[in-house]
Amino acid sequence: MSWDNALNTGIETVDMHHRGLVQRVEEFHMACMNNDGNEALSKILAFLDEYILVHFSYEEGLFQSVNYPQREIHINSHKSFIAEVNNIRNRIDNDDSTADIIKYAKDFLMAWLVRHISGMDMDFSVYYKNAISGTVIKRHTNN
Ligand SMILES: [Fe+2]
Repeated sequence: MSWDNALNTGIETVDMHHRGLVQRVEEFHMACMNNDGNEALSKILAFLDEYILVHFSYEEGLFQSVNYPQREIHINSHKSFIAEVNNIRNRIDNDDSTADIIKYAKDFLMAWLVRHISGMDMDFSVYYKNAISGTVIKRHTNN
């Protein structure tokens, strides 16, 4: 799957992060098809470790800035993703069947990202853009 414009939220930095994430997951998929899954899995987990924290904190900062009413459920969704990534890492450390883990990670990562972006992130972007334009209009009227 390549980037689908239907996934654009209209919040520039968020979209930039999302495109980067989806691209990395695609590269992981390609590597799996070329039988480089083992190395690619460690690579993507290392990438997610850093990048997902940057991205989730960015989004969560935006929730804060507009007092987003759904922020708790959204933050919980981020937490469950982090937990699942940690779970995958633990399975690599303990499990003997790497092929199963690679397949699981391959299915989980893309499915989660697409579902989360098109669901929760999209809902938030609608609220955020309204809140921001509301602020702009208010400022404008006050002047
Ligand atoms: Fe999110």
